[in-house]
Amino acid sequence: MRNLSESTLTDAVLATLLTSHDARFKQIAESLVRHLHDFVRDVELTEDEWFKAIQFLTATGQKCDDKRQEFILLSDTLGVSMLVDAINHRFPEGATETTVFGPFYQSGAPELVNGANIATGVVGEPTLFTGRVLDHRGEPVAGATIDVWAVDGEGWYDVQLAHLDEMQVRGRFRSDAAGRFWFWTVKPVSYPIPTDGPVGPMLHAMGRHPYRPAHIHFMLSAAGFRSVTTHVFVAGDKYLDSDAVFGVKNSLITEFVTKPAGTAKDGTVMATPYVEAHYDFRLAQDHS
Ligand code: BEZ
Ligand code: FE
Repeated sequence: MRNLSESTLTDAVLATLLTSHDARFKQIAESLVRHLHDFVRDVELTEDEWFKAIQFLTATGQKCDDKRQEFILLSDTLGVSMLVDAINHRFPEGATETTVFGPFYQSGAPELVNGANIATGVVGEPTLFTGRVLDHRGEPVAGATIDVWAVDGEGWYDVQLAHLDEMQVRGRFRSDAAGRFWFWTVKPVSYPIPTDGPVGPMLHAMGRHPYRPAHIHFMLSAAGFRSVTTHVFVAGDKYLDSDAVFGVKNSLITEFVTKPAGTAKDGTVMATPYVEAHYDFRLAQDHS
C-alpha cells in the first residue's frame, strides 16, 4: 500500500475494511468511504475548505451540552433526521405519521392526571388539548403513555429560559378506558431554531430562515403497538410550507380554535377566551 494516487486511494481504504468482523459495520463504513471520497472528488475540495469543514464540525461538538444538541440540529436542518425517520417508520396506511424528534426533549417530565395544566409558569393563550389514542380499527387504546413537550406562547422551550427552575410545558399522561387524554397548555407559536451555534451561519449561507411552524411534540407508547414520535401542527401557520427541519405532514395539522369565555369541554370555567384543539392518534400494531 504505497504510492497511492487520486485514482487508487479509495480502493486502498476500502481494502482495509475486508478484515472487519462486523458485517453491518463493514457495509456502513464502505459506503461512507465511497461517498466521502466521491464528494471530495466531485467538488475538488481545497485544503482551506476541508479545514473550514473540520472547524465547523469541531464547533458543532463544542456547542453541545446537556441542554443543547447542535449535532441533532445539524442533522435536522440537512433533512437527514427526516430521512432516517422515514426509513425507520414505514407504518401502514392510516397510522399516525411520525416526524422529527428534535433536540428539546427532556426525560423525566412529571406524570400528570388528565386535565392538568402543563403551562402554569409561562405566558401564552390558555389552550385545552384533547386527544384519543386508537388502534388501526379505530378502537380505543387504554393505558397508552403520552409524553408531551412544547414551547411557551413566546416560542421558548423551558430549557432555553434561564430563570425557570422547574420543567414547563412538559408532561406525561395516560389514555383512559375510552382512549382519551386531555390537558391544559398554552397555544404554541412558530419559533426560530437556535442560530447562535454553527447551524445559524450555515442556514444563512444557504439563504434559509430558521423558523418552525407552531406545533406540540408527542411521543406515544402502548403495549402491543409501535411507539410514535410526532407533532401536532397548528393549522394556518405561515411556516407550514417552509419548516426549517422539513417535518410537516398534512395529516398532522389540526385547527386550534379560539372560544369565548365560558365552560370548556372538560368542565373548566374560563373567565377569558381560550383555545381548543383535538387530535386522534392511531397506533400501528407491533408485530415483532
Ligand atoms: C423542535 O421542534 O423542537 C426542533 C426540531 C428540530 C430542530 C430544532 C427544534
Ligand atoms: Fe419543537
